[in-house]
Formats: sequence, structure tokens, C-alpha cells
Amino acid sequence: DKIITKEDIIMDKYSAIGVLDSGVGGLTVLKELEKSLPSENKIYFGDSLRMPYGNKSEEEIIFLANEMISFLEKRNVKVILLACNTISSYIDKISSNVPLFSIVKSGSKAIYESHTKNTVGLIATKATVNSKSYERELYKLKKDIKIISKDSTKLPKVIDKQIENTPLLNDLIKECIDPILKEDKNIKELVLGCSHFPIIEKEIKAIYKDLTLLDPAKKMVEDTMDYLKKEHLLNDSTDKRTSLYTTEDILEFVAYIKRLSLNIDKLEKVKLLKDD
Ligand code: DGL
Repeated sequence: DKIITKEDIIMDKYSAIGVLDSGVGGLTVLKELEKSLPSENKIYFGDSLRMPYGNKSEEEIIFLANEMISFLEKRNVKVILLACNTISSYIDKISSNVPLFSIVKSGSKAIYESHTKNTVGLIATKATVNSKSYERELYKLKKDIKIISKDSTKLPKVIDKQIENTPLLNDLIKECIDPILKEDKNIKELVLGCSHFPIIEKEIKAIYKDLTLLDPAKKMVEDTMDYLKKEHLLNDSTDKRTSLYTTEDILEFVAYIKRLSLNIDKLEKVKLLKDD
């Protein structure tokens, strides 16, 4: 397979915005893109076959992220949004020929802009929590915001399998948020530091009515929009397409496309090089 270089990629305003995630979680970012940048072409890639990424090794996460990025580069994307917090946590070690956007960086900006207390809660995967990526990004913005985090490795898989509104889901939500509030009961903001969590925002809010839930996806799309404007890369054509690729059965995606009312032109199951 040919190695892609910068010269091989057409990066003009008609090129698509690429979004990648370990599974269906990043569809919440795609939804935000649909709302804020409706005239852009979009290509989404979710590696549902290998998810969860949250308990994989750093080496494996980087390897898989690089493969997904090559997949999107071959389809001429002008930017790639790393909708997955776990992948974003290792952005500095990932190679790409197109600009990458990290949801952790956008999420940290969202915390910085909306925190009312100097301690915020974070629920994320084991890999994200252990990497301390949120702490690093926040430190660059403001030195005295403290994060109390809890990893929740089981939750994304349960969400991917669509076990919503069940006692199991509620138990798992409590299992990851209660310890944070136990450590600091004055916490007011909780960051949804895993792309799957905005999908169950309603369920979380029903249990923790006093918490403000921060979804980094909104800020990520704002950051993307600012960049495209600055670089004169905003698409003004009315002929746009959204294509969705997954490494797993497409049925899982069909349910979420419906749930999020997404407009999709193409849905296809594909293989990564690793599968050959
Ligand atoms: N999409 C991942 C994230 O945002 C969570 C799911 C996983 O563990 O693969 O961190």
C-alpha cells in the first residue's frame, strides 16, 4: 500500500471534514458539525470492531489512530477531528499530514471558560485518566483548576451495545460519578471526557440534577469553524455529503443515526490494514 504524503492530499475548501472515533461516540461530534457547519462534506470513521480503546496500551492506541488517519487521508480530508478523548490524549505521538483537532484540548477550553469552582469532575476512560491529558491542557490555560477524575471503562461498551434506560446503565453511571462527589461534594461541573457520554447525557442528568455537564464536542466544532474561517477553507457549496465508515456491523450505527437524527448519505463496513 502506497505511503501517503502531504502532496497526495487535496486540501481545498471542498475537501471533507474527517471525524474519527473508536466507535459510535463521535457521532455526537458529527451531530454538532451538522448543526454548525451544514454545508461541509463530512467523513466519519468509527473502529467499533476494536473498541473499547480506553483500556488498550498507549502503543496500540497510537498504532490504530495512525491507521484510521491514513484511511481518512486517502479520502482527501482537510482536517481531522479526533472525537475520541482516548486517542486525543496521545495526539503528540500521532502522525498526520492534515491538521488534527483534539477533543481534550477543546474540552479543556470549555472547562476554562465555564467553570464556577476551581475543582471540576471528569469521567473518562482509563487511558485518558492515566495519561493526565486534561490536566496538561488545563495547566496551559489556568494553573489552579483541579480535576477529580474517575475512569469508567465499562460504560462506553454498554453504550455501544445500546443498553440504555436500564438499571445496569444507572448503576454504572453511579459507580463512576459517586466517588468524584464523595471526594468533593461541592463540585458543580462534570466533564463528559469520553465521546460516548454525551449520548447518555439525559440519563446522567436525571440522577445528578445539580451538576452542569460539559460536552467538549460543542467547543471542538467551534474551534474547527474558527480554523476553517481563518484558512479560507469553509465550504460554500450546497452539494454536500456525509459518509460513514465502520469496521463493525453497520446495524449498530443505524440505531444511533436514528437516535441522533443524523443525515447520512452513505454507510459502509470497511477493513483496516490490520484486519488483512
Ligand atoms: N471514544 C472513547 C473516548 O472518547 C471511549 C470509548 C473507548 O474506550 O473506546 O475516550
